[in-house]
Amino acid sequence: MNKPKCPLTTSNGAPIADDQNSISAGERGSLTFDNFRLFEKLAHFNRERLPERVVHARGVGAYGTFTLSKDLSDHTIADFLQGVGKKTPMFARFSTVGGGQDSSDYARDPRGFALKFYTTQGNFDLVGNNTPVFFLRDPSKFPDFIHSQKKNPQTNLPDPAAAFEFWANSPQSLHQMTILMSDRGLPYSFRHMDGFSSHTLSLWNKKGERVWIKWHFKTQQGIKTLTNEQAAKMPAFGAQQDLFESIAKGDFPRWRVSLQIMTPAQASSYHINPFDLTKVWPHGDFPLIEIGMLELNRNVDNYFAEVEQAAFAPSNLVPGVGASPDKMLQARLLAYQDAHRYRLGVNNAQLPVNAPRCPVNHYQRDGLMAGGTSIGQAHQTAAVNFYPNDRTQAGAPAPMPEVTEPPMPILGEAWVKAYDTQQEDNFSQAGALFRLMSDDQKNQLANNIAGGLVHANASIQERMLAQFAQADTDYAARVKQALAQR
Ligand code: HEM
Repeated sequence: MNKPKCPLTTSNGAPIADDQNSISAGERGSLTFDNFRLFEKLAHFNRERLPERVVHARGVGAYGTFTLSKDLSDHTIADFLQGVGKKTPMFARFSTVGGGQDSSDYARDPRGFALKFYTTQGNFDLVGNNTPVFFLRDPSKFPDFIHSQKKNPQTNLPDPAAAFEFWANSPQSLHQMTILMSDRGLPYSFRHMDGFSSHTLSLWNKKGERVWIKWHFKTQQGIKTLTNEQAAKMPAFGAQQDLFESIAKGDFPRWRVSLQIMTPAQASSYHINPFDLTKVWPHGDFPLIEIGMLELNRNVDNYFAEVEQAAFAPSNLVPGVGASPDKMLQARLLAYQDAHRYRLGVNNAQLPVNAPRCPVNHYQRDGLMAGGTSIGQAHQTAAVNFYPNDRTQAGAPAPMPEVTEPPMPILGEAWVKAYDTQQEDNFSQAGALFRLMSDDQKNQLANNIAGGLVHANASIQERMLAQFAQADTDYAARVKQALAQR
């Protein structure tokens, strides 16, 4: 027999003579205790799964490039936002939200739009969605909200009545729910949708001045959506396949990148709370400023290693890019790293897809699966493992005062005041969005809502109709009519 070019080995690298037959006590006898190759194979197989993401479990990822077309040095010290033409490598993961890995690519659901920019000053993660707003403005509601959208705890089946029960009790969701139930709520593919930071973030410059910003990613493939009937005919993995195949054949998807910018003075007098995630900043007041182009141009080599193990965190910020007082964002600054420690372990930043492309110099050590082999982990080896020390002149890591972030404004005393007050305007922007829709879009919206709301009881239906009426009386009338036709 020919000698194989590549010998099959065990995980310790030793060549295996026979991988298809276990060692047994004779032809009809039981296995023997020295079947350690079989045991290794079975034991590794038993451990092939990670816990899936608690939300956004189902997704697809690809690498690409962000090319800057507008110098932003007036606003930020961030290196990747300075110098027209600067290119920054990045990784994107798109996902559905509510379904597990066993769900469909074509659920009526927001789509995750998570980006990791490998900048020369560390990774900047923008963990957004394909919608400019969200269902909530207070993070304490997040687990309840997600429970209401996921499968019923008893039947393990989708439960539209529970989704509407939550919404009937949470008028702050109306704006995002209107987007979800509109034609935009079911994208044809991940390439044919826009992306948003949704949250207000900030940029700060070397003078210590901060501006508030929102990120927008406009698909260059055009918006393309599906009706529920069309979606039902799509293959379960169609959206993942669409992204992979278009990149594989060189048809690279692109998004035009823009910012909305608001100064602190504008923020203090603007009639909308700029840190309320249920609201947009109207483009008439804060126009889109184009800053570059995002292109996805390389597929992953290994889905599990690069997509399943990808860890995006809103707290992955770089000098010159900051957070904001948005309460939802503040909670997310904690939640994601916590999720990664549980799902991937404490050294998840050392995995190749997550590792910064610049040196990582710190005094954190050890922990489960500490590799210390990824780019820039040299100081993790023989170097000093405590700070302060006497060795910074010799190259031991030391803090850089010049990247001190300017203070984050705090507006009042801290106390548990119900922020979701009766007076809060939950309806104007939902109504404005409704009035922008064509007659056909309005009917699609009403029918999509009725399809779920019909499963809820009369009290929930009444409260939902009251919410729609506050947004626009025609909105309520159309949903009422669509419900009557069910
Ligand atoms: C308080 C609010 C929120 C909490 C506590 C929260 C929590 C989480 C958690 C725990 C994960 C799984 C992370 C992992 O295992 O890697 C996740 C994923 C994700 N979340 Fe959130 N989330 C919140 C709101 C939002 C909002 C407002 C957006 C978009 C604007 C968003 C976008 C995403 C995306 C895109 C992912 C998937 C990231 C990936 O592709 O790996 N989340 N979220």
